[in-house]
Amino acid sequence: MKCVKWMVTAMVLTTVLIGCAQVPPTPVTQIKYSDGELPIPPEYKSWPKFLSDIQRTDIKQVREIYINPIGHSTKMGETFPNETISVMEIYKAREAADGTPLKGGDGKFVKGELLKVAVMGKGAGWGDSVTPTELRNGDWIYAMYLADAKTKAPDDTSTCRACHLPLTDKDYIFRYDEYFQKRAQ
Ligand code: HEC
Repeated sequence: MKCVKWMVTAMVLTTVLIGCAQVPPTPVTQIKYSDGELPIPPEYKSWPKFLSDIQRTDIKQVREIYINPIGHSTKMGETFPNETISVMEIYKAREAADGTPLKGGDGKFVKGELLKVAVMGKGAGWGDSVTPTELRNGDWIYAMYLADAKTKAPDDTSTCRACHLPLTDKDYIFRYDEYFQKRAQ
């Protein structure tokens, strides 16, 4: 009896395993990432620029924002489609020995050390994992990494969404208007 049971179990397992082998791998776009877990796609530097050389005089930083091609296909007035990913590099402005920020010939900050790399992306149902629900930014989720773009930074993602949250009519994107205006030029 025992032996029959084992044979049945083995047959079932084999069927399951063969079944699994035939299932194609899940495309990346169908993965449901949760908040804080969205990885930075390694090829992001080859994406279209969203905005470049953003001067944050208030916190002495320079920022570079990239957007993936699917996000870049969005037209002004539309929300970004699912599978949009935006990556933002955060650089420290270079400083003189006395701590004052250095300025280039164009009067702009000079990019110094890369401090962190931020990412936000949206996908069907990605926002479901976000709590508290009042802080949901639609289906956008957030993650922050150190300069290697791989090691998670200690930032609490609820701070990200709290600051981006009021921008409901711009799909939670701060420089929405600036991006589309620049692109049109
Ligand atoms: C105090 C407000 C504030 C907080 C907190 C904040 N952001 Fe932002 N974020 C901004 C602003 C403003 C911009 C536009 C670029 C700029 O002016 O620096 C921006 C831009 C971005 C962008 C580029 C795409 C876009 O929306 O323009 C990403 C990606 C991003 N933030 C991710 C994050 C992540 C991840 C966190 C949390 C770890 C975070 N942000 C926290 C204000 C904030």
